[in-house]
Amino acid sequence: MIRGMGSPASHPALEDLPLQWRSAPRRWGHSLHSLCSYFAMFPPQLAHFFVDWLTEPGDAVYDPFSGRGTLALEAVLQGRRSYASDANPLAVALSHAKTRVPSRQTLLKRLNELRASYSPEPVRTESEPEYISMLYSEMTFKQLVWLKEKLDRTNDVDCFWIAVILGMLHGNHNKNGEPRGFSISMPNTFAMAPGYVAKYIEEHDLKRPSVDVFEMLERRLERIDLPSAKRTGGRTWLQDATAQPPSWILKQRPKLIFTSPPYLEVIKYGKYNWVRLWFLGQTAAEVDQKLMASASLPRYLKFMESVSANLKEIVAEDGFVCFVIGDVRRGDTDLNLAQEVWEHVLKEQGWHLHGIIADELPQNQKVSRIWKHNSGRATKTDRLLLLSPQTRTLPDMVPPMWDRRLTFSGTPT
Ligand SMILES: C[S@@+](CC[C@H](N)C(=O)[O-])C[C@H]1O[C@@H](n2cnc3c(N)ncnc32)[C@H](O)[C@@H]1O
Repeated sequence: MIRGMGSPASHPALEDLPLQWRSAPRRWGHSLHSLCSYFAMFPPQLAHFFVDWLTEPGDAVYDPFSGRGTLALEAVLQGRRSYASDANPLAVALSHAKTRVPSRQTLLKRLNELRASYSPEPVRTESEPEYISMLYSEMTFKQLVWLKEKLDRTNDVDCFWIAVILGMLHGNHNKNGEPRGFSISMPNTFAMAPGYVAKYIEEHDLKRPSVDVFEMLERRLERIDLPSAKRTGGRTWLQDATAQPPSWILKQRPKLIFTSPPYLEVIKYGKYNWVRLWFLGQTAAEVDQKLMASASLPRYLKFMESVSANLKEIVAEDGFVCFVIGDVRRGDTDLNLAQEVWEHVLKEQGWHLHGIIADELPQNQKVSRIWKHNSGRATKTDRLLLLSPQTRTLPDMVPPMWDRRLTFSGTPT
C-alpha cells in the first residue's frame, strides 16, 4: 500500500474524490494491465484508490464484470484476495492471468517446453477459417494453431500464456515496419469485421509477417514485471451476473465489490474480438448472445435488479459495493443511468447510499469515441454509486502517493 506520507487521514467530501485518482499520472499502473486491450476498462488508478481506501490486506475483493481484470490485478498487487467473474470467456482468460500470476521462471520453463515439443509438420490448418488464416504467415499460423490446441485454460501457467497470446494476436507495425503482434498490420484494440479486413488486405497488398511466436512471446515477457514466486490472489470464473452465484463465493464475504456493468447498448464485446475468440475456440455470435446489450431502459433496470440482488447476498455485512455507470446519450440529452438505477432498483432493495459521485472524463479518453456508428452514445461522465448493504459510515481516507507504482518485487518504482 502506497500512501501519501504526511497527508493526514480525513473524512472525504465525496464530490471531491475524483480529484484523488485524476491527480495520478495518466499512464500510472502496472505493466500487466496492458497485457491485452479491452473495451470500457476502467483506469487502474480508480481501482487502486478504492481497494486501498475501503479494504485491508487479506480482505476479499470481487468484480462480477471483470473485463480485462483491472480490479483483480490491483487487488492482488495490494495483497487482497481477488475474485473476478464475467460472462465473456475472453474476459475470464485475461482476469485469470491477473488473479493467479505465475513466476517468471515457471513461465519461461513452460515456454521452453512448448518450443522444444513443437514441430510444424503434423499441424493441420485446413479446417481453420480462412478469415483467420488470412492474417498470418503459414509459419506463424501453424504455431498459433498448435498452441491453441496445446494450452490448457484451466492451468494457471498456460492461462497466463494464453492471455499474452491474446494480446498479440493482432497489432500494428512500428516505424521500422516491425510487427508488434503476429498478424498483418491492424489495430490492437479491436478487429474490424472479417469482410472489411479481407478487402483491406487485398486493396493495400498487406504482407503477412513471418514471425516466430515463441520468440515474440519470450520478448514480450521481458517487458512485464513478474513475481519471483507465484502470486495467487483468489479465483476467476465464467458467470452471468444475473444467475445464481456459486455457494463458495458467499463464504468469501467480499469486503468490496467494485464493478462496471455493461452500458446501455454501447459495446458488442464479442463482435470486435472475433480473432481473440477464435483462439479460445469460441465464436463472436455465441459470446454476444450471452452478454447484456440492450437499448431498452426497462430491460437494463431489470438486469441491474437481479445483479444487485445477487451482490447483496455476496457482499460482507460491513462491506461496500460500488457501481461505475456511465451517462448515456439519448437523442439530444444525456441520461443519468446511475440515478435511474438508484431510483428504480437499489432504493427499493434497501441499500444504504453513501453518494453518487460524478467523475468527468476527458472526452478523448473515452474508448467509445472510436465507435463510428455509436459515436456520442456514451458521454463523458461516469458516475460511481457507492453503497453498503446496511447503514454505515465511510472510513477515513489517506490520499495515495501516485509518484510510485506497485510491483511484484515489492519495491515500488
Ligand atoms: C464495462 S465492461 C467491464 C470492464 C472492466 N471494468 C475492466 O476494467 O476491464 C463490462 C463487462 O460486462 C461483461 N458482461 C456483459 N453482460 C454480462 C452478464 N450478463 N454477466 C456478466 N458479465 C457480463 C462484458 O463481457 C464486459 O467484460
